[in-house]
Amino acid sequence: MEEHLTVGRLAELAGVTVRTLHHYDEIGLVLPSARTAAGYRAYSAGDVERLREVLAYRRLGFGLREIADLVDDPATDAVAHLRRLRSLLLEQHDRAAAMVTAIDRELEARAMGIRTTPEEQLKVFGAQLYDVIGSAYPATRRTEPRIAAKIWDALGDARTVLNVGAGTGSYEPPDRDVTAVEPSAVMRAQRPAGAAPCVAAAAESLPFEDQSFDAAMAVSTVHHWPDPVAGLREMRRVARRVVVFTYDASGTGWRQRFWLTRDYLPEFADLLVGWPSLADLTRAIGGHAEPLLVPWDCADGFFEAYWRRPEAYLDEQVRRAVSVWTRVGPEAEQRAVDRLGDDLSSGRWAERNRDIVALDAAELGLRLLVA
Ligand SMILES: C[S@@+](CC[C@H](N)C(=O)[O-])C[C@H]1O[C@@H](n2cnc3c(N)ncnc32)[C@H](O)[C@@H]1O
Repeated sequence: MEEHLTVGRLAELAGVTVRTLHHYDEIGLVLPSARTAAGYRAYSAGDVERLREVLAYRRLGFGLREIADLVDDPATDAVAHLRRLRSLLLEQHDRAAAMVTAIDRELEARAMGIRTTPEEQLKVFGAQLYDVIGSAYPATRRTEPRIAAKIWDALGDARTVLNVGAGTGSYEPPDRDVTAVEPSAVMRAQRPAGAAPCVAAAAESLPFEDQSFDAAMAVSTVHHWPDPVAGLREMRRVARRVVVFTYDASGTGWRQRFWLTRDYLPEFADLLVGWPSLADLTRAIGGHAEPLLVPWDCADGFFEAYWRRPEAYLDEQVRRAVSVWTRVGPEAEQRAVDRLGDDLSSGRWAERNRDIVALDAAELGLRLLVA
């Protein structure tokens, strides 16, 4: 038992209470791998390593459920966790430094009798959505090969490619020289080892000279940008060719297109308020739009992906990897899920959607913009 620590000693070393360690044991987050002869918890070096990861993610503000997903991920070893934690901590450090600067500026302004605007006061505290929800992303979000083939085809003979809003890099072509841009530290930290280099920046202000790349691409991201038209113009500025995978929210056609928003989640409409039309988006890059059908067995779990597999929407893990569910709020989400569950059990969903179950691919408003 020499190499094991008792629960009391471990609590003391880690600066947490014994009760916390008992709780982590009860919920399966940090289980002591042995017991003493008297039946007390005994923690091995491996258990201590896991506790260190748990406490570090906790300090960064992750919830216990998210932490469980992170530390249980078989693809992430101790070194990868340390690297990820390091980059998250540096990001937090940079954010704290930016806040100190903003506070100093406001103190100076106040001393001179100048009042800052509400926008100026809040700007520095605005959390990135993907820093909050991003850790749930890799569970179901991955490259859909049929969509990837269309995107890569549209990139033509481009050798150098900028991937804007790159996330974990799902659609980065393996055979070109890719540079990624991603503002969320959580998403950047989840890029696989060996992924293209990634710059912390936002689409609206790309830190590159004019025409630096043969092509720029953006996948499932434009709807997150505070100013999509400005971001698309930036892509146009830095690249000779632009390829964008996005959503057509023009008019009211989308209401009838997808049973999920039509019958269960009308709150989706609130997310489209102020969203530029497809014509505005294509104009920003000077290109055209092509429809992209969603295969019935789409591998990338985006919002529309499970149109022929409705039970998937009852799965919390599927929903957590799609921002729509967080953005409509927990009440709308719960109501939609409850009603869908009822309709699936009663056969009402099948009755209403009889016409789609025989389709292999569906037109749900997804578009490839090419310029
Ligand atoms: C749904 S994910 C898509 C990620 C990746 N392109 C993919 O297809 O898996 C949306 C990404 O857009 C990023 N994003 C949000 N605001 C952005 C902005 N202003 N500029 C660039 N990317 C942004 C988010 O941080 C997030 O990683």
